[in-house]
Amino acid sequence: NVLILDFGSQYTQLIARRVRELNIYCEIHPYNKIPESLENFKAVILSGSPNSVRGELVLHPDLSAIKGKKPLLAVCYGAQYLAHFSGGKVAESNTREYGRANLSYIKTSENFFRNIVEGSQVWMSHSDTIKELPTNAVLLASTTDVENAAYKIEGEDTFGIQFHPEVYHSTDGKQLLANFLVDIAKVEQNWTPDSFVDSTVAAIQEKVGNDKVVLGLSGGVDSSVAAVLLHKAIGKNLYCIFVNNGLLRKNEFESVLNQYQGMGLNVKGVDASDRFLSALKDLSDPELKRKAIGNAFIEVFDDEAHQIKDVKWLAQGTIYPDVIESVSVNGGPSATIKSHHNVGGLPDFMKLKIVEPLRMIFKDEVRRVGASLGIDKELLGRHPFPGPGLAIRILGDITPEKVRILQEVDAIFINGLKEDGLYDKVWQAGAMLLPVNSVGVMGDERTYEKVVALRAVESTDGMTADWVDLPYKFLQKTSNKIINQVKGVNRVVYDISSKPPATIEWE
Ligand code: XMP
Repeated sequence: NVLILDFGSQYTQLIARRVRELNIYCEIHPYNKIPESLENFKAVILSGSPNSVRGELVLHPDLSAIKGKKPLLAVCYGAQYLAHFSGGKVAESNTREYGRANLSYIKTSENFFRNIVEGSQVWMSHSDTIKELPTNAVLLASTTDVENAAYKIEGEDTFGIQFHPEVYHSTDGKQLLANFLVDIAKVEQNWTPDSFVDSTVAAIQEKVGNDKVVLGLSGGVDSSVAAVLLHKAIGKNLYCIFVNNGLLRKNEFESVLNQYQGMGLNVKGVDASDRFLSALKDLSDPELKRKAIGNAFIEVFDDEAHQIKDVKWLAQGTIYPDVIESVSVNGGPSATIKSHHNVGGLPDFMKLKIVEPLRMIFKDEVRRVGASLGIDKELLGRHPFPGPGLAIRILGDITPEKVRILQEVDAIFINGLKEDGLYDKVWQAGAMLLPVNSVGVMGDERTYEKVVALRAVESTDGMTADWVDLPYKFLQKTSNKIINQVKGVNRVVYDISSKPPATIEWE
């Protein structure tokens, strides 16, 4: 078990993911909330930070229970922090230190650099630099521009590195983490999808006993994996509810419901399309639409849950990135861009206890766990789909006719991606129905019909995204199909905006 102390770096979650890839369990905690008991942590990693050890906003935790007592790896800010407060000198750097660099010197006698040779590429991202090491430190590596790229404190298993081993572009980064965690800290590599399944099943059985549990399925990866895991633990005591809000993809309700039943889950499909559509009637503001859908979902789910006698628990597919407490380094609250209704978040009045079997794992691990549970590859590889569904892809007010049009367009686009082997190259794709008509000509007739926009993005977590350069031939074919086959659409455009400054969804 490894403790990662977060100083607010954009890469902290990446450190955790790299550690997990080594089959080692780790947890991220804010730098100022160090767990009281450190007994279970065999090693500690300090993350980077956008702050400076020289600034007013220096983040200054008390590491006396850690430094010199447990193997400690300090990355970037962490390395500067340790150097600064142990008698070294940190100053603003006068050369640019962003991006690619190569280790021009390595003290090869150290286990820390086992299997890493001079010339190894590392990734830098810092504006301060360690000018002088503390007197009890030994230099372990340098780059051409950064003399003190890595150091060790004598007599301790304490290491500082200026570069970021967690990013993909540090080619030997994972090896370095393995050297530190496995060779030096002697942490066991026993965190695998299978071991996760075994321990989680046991933990659920212990926690829930013979109680009944209700879970809202969405058709997405997280709730599906959570359901199969719970089903493995408590069998028929798991009651799944899959709500059709009338805003799903074409035929999705029936096909996903069948798939769930085929997996042996005890699932009830509830078609509440009319209820959602009437809740949405005449609403065109995106936030009001989200709220109306969130509320309708709670009502429907509540009605259904009340029909399950003596249900005690609500299961949710919450994953680790939703749980990690974010470190706000400047103290300011972040702006609400969209009130992402996580459909499944329920009000207190339901008085159910919560069980979240995936709350400590990342999305890629959810998929690996799903595979280890034997869940269909196709289901595990599904693109994310927003809880409010097509409602936030139909700009403005929603009518059954608009839903029908968009379902048709979306199906042509998504099936086309699958047919051409492009689906798995895209992180998320969908179509937007715009609230404008445009003039066209079909045969000899003037048309005045809807415009749709296609969007396909690559991303790792949805926080940032870039549009995908889909082949022109594919776009051409798809556009033709849509205009020829979907009545009411006479124009197709392709969205070439990145996030930021745009967002993935249009509303
Ligand atoms: P944006 O549009 O904010 O989307 O760039 C980022 C990711 O979040 C999804 N999304 C939502 N998911 N409820 C959800 O469950 C919502 O209200 C919602 N809005 C956006 C979006 O599909 C993308 O994957």
